[in-house]
Amino acid sequence: MEFFLDTGIVDEIKEAVDWGLVNGVTTNPSLIAKSGRTQEDVIKEICSLVNGPISAEVISTDKVGMLKEAEELAKIHDNVVIKLPLTIDGISACKVLSDQSIKTNVTLCFSANQALLAAKNGATYVSPFIGRLDDIGHSGMGLIEEIRVIFDNYGFPTQILAASVRHSDHVREAALVGADVATMPLSCMKSLFKHPLTDIGLEKFLADHKKSL
Ligand code: E4P
Repeated sequence: MEFFLDTGIVDEIKEAVDWGLVNGVTTNPSLIAKSGRTQEDVIKEICSLVNGPISAEVISTDKVGMLKEAEELAKIHDNVVIKLPLTIDGISACKVLSDQSIKTNVTLCFSANQALLAAKNGATYVSPFIGRLDDIGHSGMGLIEEIRVIFDNYGFPTQILAASVRHSDHVREAALVGADVATMPLSCMKSLFKHPLTDIGLEKFLADHKKSL
């Protein structure tokens, strides 16, 4: 399973890159806004820090506008992945971009049928938002399970990118049901290291070591 960091804050990326665990980065307009910088600036800098897929989202809601933005974003770096919303225009633009071998990430996916549309039009990634589904009392993980079955039934190469990941259990469950990638905030990636018995065990080992000196 690949780990992507879900952020537009470059310092967070630097911190996690040092752990050797960051395979890619996802951003969205809300995350870019939090950075206080332009999307182009942020994406350029991220590309210099991480040698992996970097998702940058279009703002246009019409196909022509999306394709125009995609052309500009793709020029930034070969690793840029064009993030498109799961709308008729987004899915249509996805087909045009996949035919040109430009990588895409279809975002805001909340149903298995939506994921099927993205896969049929050659999306590189589809992003089911598990946290936002859980928020409204639906099963985010159930959706990932359904998409996994459908993609495996037909051999779709589209990768399932578990998004809107909120805590370590989301990561564990997404790994168990076979998501290809989990994108998560820095706090969530940090929490994966944590277990109270690790801390207690280490404390005891160090105390015992002192006794043997
Ligand atoms: C990433 O691609 C998504 O935009 C992001 O994970 C959404 O997360 P949120 O639901 O916590 O905003």
